[in-house]
Amino acid sequence: MNNIINDIEGKGYAELPFGLEDAVNESFSSFKEFLKLDLEQRKQWTFPIDRKLNSEIGYVPREEETNQMTGHPYDYKDVFHFDLSLLNRAVEKKLDIGPYKDWFDNLTLIYNKAERIAEDTLKNISINYPDIQNVFQDKQENKGVLRLLNYHMINRDEGVIGLGHVDEWLLTINIAENLPGLKVGAGTNSHILMRDFGIAIVYPGRKLGNLTSNKLKPLYHEVVRTDGDVGNRMALTFFFDR
Ligand SMILES: [Fe+2]
Repeated sequence: MNNIINDIEGKGYAELPFGLEDAVNESFSSFKEFLKLDLEQRKQWTFPIDRKLNSEIGYVPREEETNQMTGHPYDYKDVFHFDLSLLNRAVEKKLDIGPYKDWFDNLTLIYNKAERIAEDTLKNISINYPDIQNVFQDKQENKGVLRLLNYHMINRDEGVIGLGHVDEWLLTINIAENLPGLKVGAGTNSHILMRDFGIAIVYPGRKLGNLTSNKLKPLYHEVVRTDGDVGNRMALTFFFDR
């Protein structure tokens, strides 16, 4: 655990074994199948905007050609947000969970493991940065969210398919990707992370930066295409807390 904190302090992120490779692979395949449904069917799995996430839970429809926030053409990515409220929301809406049960079981497994890692990491960080302890005092369940991403690999300037930014919350765990393409750092220090499947990348978001006077800096990152051909990039990321 100390290595994680030293790595975050030293290079901005840490690598750690996450495992659950089968669950991750299967959740990618299930997401691909889900995306084959008609838009109207997919949109049944869109639940109201989550206050802190400021985005929908479940399927996040992308129907505009231009990103209203950035003014750039859309990144052409499909997003699905999973958290522990999703199943109840589906039951309330009388949706048939049956065909998706394995998918949601896998995502629940992944969610729980990611949340445990995030909490353990933050507890350890809080030994040196006590201001973080406040965020645990109002701890409720289900404070994180899993984001499944499917990038359509539309070519952009210099291969960028996800614009550079820092994440907003305390900690991000980039659990898996099917192709390399997560580019971290800015300027001459930036580099694409190469890692084995099953190894997660953990890094601070803006909220953790604020709580540590930016000693644990939010990690600037973007997503680039690296396969040299048209294909789909899939990624699975956990955000905590939101
Ligand atoms: Fe991000």
